[in-house]
Amino acid sequence: MAITIKTEDEIKKMRVAGQLAADVLRMIRPHVKPGISTDELDQICHDYIINKQKAIPAPLNYRGFPKSICTSVNHQVCHGIPGERILKKGDIVNLDITVIKDGYHGDTSKMFCVGKPSIQAQRLVDIAHQCMVIGIEQVRPGVRLGDIGFAIQTHAESNRCSIVREYCGHGIGRQFHEEPQVLHYGQPGTGVELKAGMTFTIEPMVNAGKKEVKLMPDNWTVVTRDHSLSAQWEHTILVTPEGHEVLTRLPDDEI
Ligand code: MF3
Ligand code: CO
Ligand code: CO
Repeated sequence: MAITIKTEDEIKKMRVAGQLAADVLRMIRPHVKPGISTDELDQICHDYIINKQKAIPAPLNYRGFPKSICTSVNHQVCHGIPGERILKKGDIVNLDITVIKDGYHGDTSKMFCVGKPSIQAQRLVDIAHQCMVIGIEQVRPGVRLGDIGFAIQTHAESNRCSIVREYCGHGIGRQFHEEPQVLHYGQPGTGVELKAGMTFTIEPMVNAGKKEVKLMPDNWTVVTRDHSLSAQWEHTILVTPEGHEVLTRLPDDEI
């Protein structure tokens, strides 16, 4: 399917879905403490999305994914499946939340530090966040996707980190993953030109070591090949006539 330009009515629904996804991350924050399992985090989010938000956790049964959120710890890059793993002091974990409300998706993820992170882990988490912010700051009509990718890649590599190539941001709306693909690397002046009404995610995966990844035997969990730490942040963005709106940012929150 081609890239969809959302109508005013669809944008309202995307805003609602985006705010709900962000609200799940706000809700779960105090639970991310040493001793909790990733399964327990999944269950708390699942119950909150279903019972409190009256929404649908999009990952559950998506292409066979067995849980309601993704939990990716330390050298896990993305799509970690919640399970019996207990979080411990010094772990860094990405919680990736996607909800469907009134037929529209909101997709956002954040890094959480369990206890006090090492200097290197904190540095990686910060650089990955800066990569996402720098990508978002590029977004306005007339800019091309390659400009976004280039800005993100340049920031990561100038800090001796690497950008994962196999996974990318994506258009989002009625479908979880729509066109276009939003690469987190690339060349300025290339790729699709942004237009007001487009909605897509920016979600760079940044490795402390080499860019190569491998898929675990569970067929979901992606890890760094060299076992270096990886970090990711994600927002759902609307292109507005003036620039952009971060649909998954809560009113008084930092980006
Ligand atoms: N939320 C992820 C993304 O940002 C996709 C997860 S797919 C799942 O695109 F099946 F693992 F949930
Ligand atoms: Co996404
Ligand atoms: Co996501």
